[in-house]
Amino acid sequence: MFAQRVLSGMRPTGHLHLGHYHGVLKNWVQLQSQYPCFFFVADWHALTTHYETPDVIEASVWEMVIDWLAAGVDPKQATLFIQSRVPEHAELFLLLSMGTPLGWLERVPTYKDQIEKLKEKDLQTYGFLGYPLLQSADILIYRAQHVPVGEDQVPHVEMTREVARRFNNLYGREPGFEVKAQESIKKLGSKAAKLYTECRVAYQERGEVDALERAKELLEQAQSISNADRERLFGYLEGSRKVILPEPQALLTAASRMPGLDGQKMSKSYGNTIGIREEPAVVERSIKTMPTDPARIRRTDVGDPARCPLWQLHLVYSDKATQEWAEKGCKSAGIGCLECKQPVIDSILREQQPMFERAQQYLDDPSLLRAIIADGNDKARAVAQETMRDVREAMGLAYT
Ligand code: TRP
Ligand code: SF4
Repeated sequence: MFAQRVLSGMRPTGHLHLGHYHGVLKNWVQLQSQYPCFFFVADWHALTTHYETPDVIEASVWEMVIDWLAAGVDPKQATLFIQSRVPEHAELFLLLSMGTPLGWLERVPTYKDQIEKLKEKDLQTYGFLGYPLLQSADILIYRAQHVPVGEDQVPHVEMTREVARRFNNLYGREPGFEVKAQESIKKLGSKAAKLYTECRVAYQERGEVDALERAKELLEQAQSISNADRERLFGYLEGSRKVILPEPQALLTAASRMPGLDGQKMSKSYGNTIGIREEPAVVERSIKTMPTDPARIRRTDVGDPARCPLWQLHLVYSDKATQEWAEKGCKSAGIGCLECKQPVIDSILREQQPMFERAQQYLDDPSLLRAIIADGNDKARAVAQETMRDVREAMGLAYT
């Protein structure tokens, strides 16, 4: 079986905000100590919507990587790289495009949605239609098992699974596969071989998914066989094909609904964000001018946190005791709104402090940042090249 890898990417289209921190980056930081992680700057994906304004992308690439590092993504644990620096992604994208039905791309929900939403841009382009397939190439080229994404991206991972399945079906044929698979089974030893065969039959003939899982586990633990045998037997379980590109799983990030400065979800398009490395004075001003319960016109008017956008931030940032203090004070007009806002301001500043500290070294010496990415590009390229060798061979492109 292939190594357990995590892969995710982010488009460089502007500065990152606390929504990205709570929704994505905290999750990456957790994953990096559990799996080999590959995190990349999806600059080509950004071009699908910003092809007329590539300067936006250029300005965001390094700032975004600094934000990642500021948030605690650790280049010693995770591999950080830039998509366009690993051109193998484009090669796989091209090869996958040959057999991908147009309907699969047109059916992806983000396709029509985004064309509708971003009316000011002409997205009736070949590149934009291909967006999810480029994403499939990003994922499959690292043979990633887990793809941490938000809910909106799940259809892209689903399509990636179909693309992988189709690829393996079309190109996973090996001359004499059946015979070779039988030989690999023998190498498992008689007890495991019997169990493997039983599980395979149970899955293929009766659709028992448990049996499939049991057989996969058995293969993962089998020590007597080579990796080539193992891959063949994984493929043989589900059909009579070799698995060249394994199917990934979406790793759903627990929906964190980070509220913005107006109570709606924090998002660049609503203009209600606080940057990850926002100046403390700006943070303070933004919170102090945030709207509160409109019924609290005078200090003596009682309020209701349920109607107050600031309260949403208490729910993210404050402990129980502070929340009770705010709720009571609000409902009894015991505290003023500015007073109520102070603990939130303090918490955000406290959260940002270590981020500023981590970012500083890269701002002082940008060559450190360049070196991290150069190193990540090399590591990513090595994995991508290995996959591409297999892909070219499977597709019959390895002629010399
Ligand atoms: N489409 C993703 C987004 O908008 C970014 C992305 C590009 C990505 N390639 C990827 C995410 C591969 C996960 C895996 O957020
Ligand atoms: Fe909102 Fe706090 Fe003012 Fe109540 S006291 S309206 S919760 S800011």
